Amino acid sequence: MPAQRKELLRFLTAGSVDDGKSTLIGRLLYDTRGIYEDQLASVQRASEKKGRSLDLSLITDGLRVERDQSITIDVAYRYFSTPLRKFIIADVPGHAQYTRNMVTGASTADLAVILVDARKGILEQTRRHSYIAWLLGIRRIIVAVNKMDLVGFDESSYAAICADYVSATEALGLLQAYFVPLCAVAGDNVAARSERMPWFGGPTLLGLLKRIPIEDQQGSNGFRFVVQSVIRPNQTYRGYAGRVVAGVARPGMEVVAMPSQQKSQITQVCLQAQELRHVQAPQSVVVTTDDQLAVGRGDMLATPDDPPATTSRVTANLIWLSGKPLQLNSPYLLKHTTRSLSGRISRVFHKIDIETFKEITSETLEANEIGLVQLETHKPMLCDRYCDNRTTGSFILIDPNDNDTVAAGMIVESTPPMHESDGASTQGTVLRHPGITVWLTGLSGAGKSTIAEGVCAELLIQGMRAQVLDADVLRKDLNRDLGFSKEDRDENVRRIGLLADRLTRDGVIVLVAAISPNRAARDHVRQTIDDFIEVHVNAPLSVCEARDPKGLYKKVRRGEIHGFTGIDDPYEEPLTPDLRVDTHERSLKTSVDMVLEAILARVR
Ligand code: ADX
Repeated sequence: MPAQRKELLRFLTAGSVDDGKSTLIGRLLYDTRGIYEDQLASVQRASEKKGRSLDLSLITDGLRVERDQSITIDVAYRYFSTPLRKFIIADVPGHAQYTRNMVTGASTADLAVILVDARKGILEQTRRHSYIAWLLGIRRIIVAVNKMDLVGFDESSYAAICADYVSATEALGLLQAYFVPLCAVAGDNVAARSERMPWFGGPTLLGLLKRIPIEDQQGSNGFRFVVQSVIRPNQTYRGYAGRVVAGVARPGMEVVAMPSQQKSQITQVCLQAQELRHVQAPQSVVVTTDDQLAVGRGDMLATPDDPPATTSRVTANLIWLSGKPLQLNSPYLLKHTTRSLSGRISRVFHKIDIETFKEITSETLEANEIGLVQLETHKPMLCDRYCDNRTTGSFILIDPNDNDTVAAGMIVESTPPMHESDGASTQGTVLRHPGITVWLTGLSGAGKSTIAEGVCAELLIQGMRAQVLDADVLRKDLNRDLGFSKEDRDENVRRIGLLADRLTRDGVIVLVAAISPNRAARDHVRQTIDDFIEVHVNAPLSVCEARDPKGLYKKVRRGEIHGFTGIDDPYEEPLTPDLRVDTHERSLKTSVDMVLEAILARVR
């Protein structure tokens, strides 16, 4: 059979630290001749240096060092083949970031090999990894019970582990588990049958990998092409470059552009200037159509009878990856296909108890927890259910403050927009409303920026035009020439005021977050901008100092910063603010709601 006609099996390996994952992968590559001679020679030399016989973990660990130098690749893919199948292993490194990397590796895998240390049996990690694999659509798992030599190749220990695993994962209905007892270091039951475990009659690990049925992971066959850019080298040619994320397309096929819903026919598909007769996922190609379509980056071409959903609200499973717990209604950045959207989690329905896989009520998710949530975005997403399409059905959430990936999400269901009948905001249409400047003043650490971001996200979700002007951020560009003398602080307020005024006239709801300690300077802007709300974001100095989000108060106390507002520089409280929010006495949500209410009372 020609090589390209071989079946392809993608799998990932998961396990706790020291379960012998590297050795097992090394062993598989070695036994199937999946490594180069020179790699093998260098592993041999390194092993000799350590005074050992061939240390197979060096095959993967050695490759990993190379990889660590390029920070962007989290998962290394390794290849080997047998006469009938090709294999891609998603080798998921690292312990600390394990869950995150596993999600990346699992998103394209057909199968997971979960390692269990024969001495330790089924651990919480084993259950968690099995659950995540299941959640990501993997329905077949090989439980590789490794280090059998350390339990004296004892059949009953192995049988107990198998029984434990079956009962632990019973709740995951559709999961099919296969078991194999191994000693990866010596190669027992990896590619060759072990003479030391004559009681085991099943296939070896490689035997399983060669035989386990491969199913189509992508569910629906609907065509999905995500546009990355529009190519217009001249007046006559217009092509759409992008990636086929599902299904097949050929010239002559009907497509619908989303979200514009314009229909057309594909005239040509090209791969590096070569015309193709058909394309399929996951090819990146250039597509031309009969008609000029109104599409841009992130839009899609799809099958007309089965297009993706257009929605601003989805129910999704989230795997929480960050040490910072999920914050309801806080702004998060959502990366979905090639688009970035801002959104928020408006509800947590439940989280999963990893011991029993039962649902328990919760209002948040913490590191490594898994739960079902409702997510809202300020613009509609073009999406599918994860079970129908792993690419258009998944997304990641990013904390906009530090760009940290906080969660991986799998869409379970898309819900129609909230105000569909009145044609309102969540459809993505921007509402008409007057502009206003909302000026949040207060001490450093009082909560100005956090409230401004929260209010802004809420307004965007409601389809309004809003913008945060954070003085701290502007000090990095527009105002980078300014320090903290009284004159500079007043100049800071003056410039921000000018900017806010322009935007307000353009119908934007401007949320300014600035200490702006001088009353006279604030009053001056207040007079120049037509629609203006002054909000005093208040908390006692001791509370702000205890929060110390940027560690500045500590620096002040150590004498590293002088002239700090509230300590050795004055803060003049507003005498008649339109609103005062005491953040030491209220939750963030209440504070955000108070400001929102004040805004909506004015602009509606
Ligand atoms: S303002 O007083 O000129 O309005 P602004 O809001 O722009 O201040 O910037 C305040 C931010 O600058 C604080 O949140 C803090 O991170 C930083 N900062 C650095 N030095 C000082 C200082 N001496 N006083 C106040 N904030 C300072």
